[in-house]
Amino acid sequence: MKKIIITGGAGFIGSHVVRRFVKSYPEYSIVNLDNLTYAGNLANLKDIENAPNYKFVKGDIVDLKFIQQLFADEQPDAVIHLAAESHVDRSITNPLEFVMTNVVGTVNLLNAARESWKGQYDKKRFYHVSTDEVYGTLGEDGMFTEETAYDPHSPYSASKASSDHFVRAYYDTYGMDTVISNCSNNYGSFHFPEKLIPLAIHNIQQKKPVPVYGKGENIRDWLWVEDHARAIDLIFHKAATGTTYNIGGHNEWKNIDLIKALCTIMDKKLGREDGESAQLITFVTDRAGHDLRYAIDATKLQKELGWVPSITFEEGLEKTVDWYLANEKWLTDVTSGHYQQYYTEQYNNR
Ligand code: NAD
Ligand code: TYD
Repeated sequence: MKKIIITGGAGFIGSHVVRRFVKSYPEYSIVNLDNLTYAGNLANLKDIENAPNYKFVKGDIVDLKFIQQLFADEQPDAVIHLAAESHVDRSITNPLEFVMTNVVGTVNLLNAARESWKGQYDKKRFYHVSTDEVYGTLGEDGMFTEETAYDPHSPYSASKASSDHFVRAYYDTYGMDTVISNCSNNYGSFHFPEKLIPLAIHNIQQKKPVPVYGKGENIRDWLWVEDHARAIDLIFHKAATGTTYNIGGHNEWKNIDLIKALCTIMDKKLGREDGESAQLITFVTDRAGHDLRYAIDATKLQKELGWVPSITFEEGLEKTVDWYLANEKWLTDVTSGHYQQYYTEQYNNR
């Protein structure tokens, strides 16, 4: 029996990780710790909410007393830490919120684990889920490896870089068993429609303008979220203590090409004329400090743990579009209220 606290389990990636662990490991007990911010949604976990090995706890990782009490109550064997503020544009508007959740929240979890796991570090594991954005930006060539020096540019990536450094410091200083993975951009079901792919799907469906920052020349390396969850499962169980793995799909796309591909898929699915949805593409003011290109070299993960992506981007994108078209209620629910207000503020001045 293993008890694992998964933080941020009501979010996009977290919900896929929670589902995978609850279903694949009936002998584990999974505690989903999430504060249900605008990005957290328990509807993401409806299919497993009554599983006997699953429990949801609402709480804020910035609240140290609460976290300490949770560790005392649950006596976890491991933490898989995904809770974070995750959207670059929001970090440009409100950097301090990112420092609080991503840096202070992570250090709180590390401190609670350190106190609670004293003398038993060899039996415990702290797995920190991070991003390739900590490495900064690439020019036209090269890829990020685990040895690439950190060079974050946005308040989001700076806060994630800082949290990664703290996790490594707890390994170096206290000998805590820590593991970190840095993954490229994810896409798939339950993705909050403030990020590029679900936002574009939603707007194309609604015949609203699809905002492309700058000239759409920026490149991202896209990975299907369930392949990320599978990599996290492998790394959690197999990685040596103190190690880092990069996770990515060798799947680079210029934003504008990706949006055009989505428009073509949506034209077919929605019975529109070829080229109709592409007319919605609208170039808007670029993001400040916009990183040009991300690309992950995932050779270490492939060689050491045998992980490769399970589906192609074409398959994944089609599955994703199908999921959004079949789950209109989910989209309507998350795009109402608070999100609408954010949307107006974010795009009205571009
Ligand atoms: P998300 O924004 O969809 O979900 C974040 C979750 O964390 C939400 O459920 C939210 O309620 C919760 N949360 C936020 N602040 C909290 C707090 N103070 N206390 C408790 N819970 C809180 O994010 P995501 O896209 O699923 O990303 C998950 C993790 O993976 C993050 O750490 C992110 O940096 C990392 N990551 C994301 C991507 C990506 O493409 N989305 C890629 C690589 C790494
Ligand atoms: P995003 O999904 O926000 O992920 P990240 O910034 O973490 O990579 O954005 C992906 C890319 O798409 C990024 O280069 C910014 C761009 N983008 C747009 O062009 N328009 C949009 O409306 C959004 C949200 C992003």
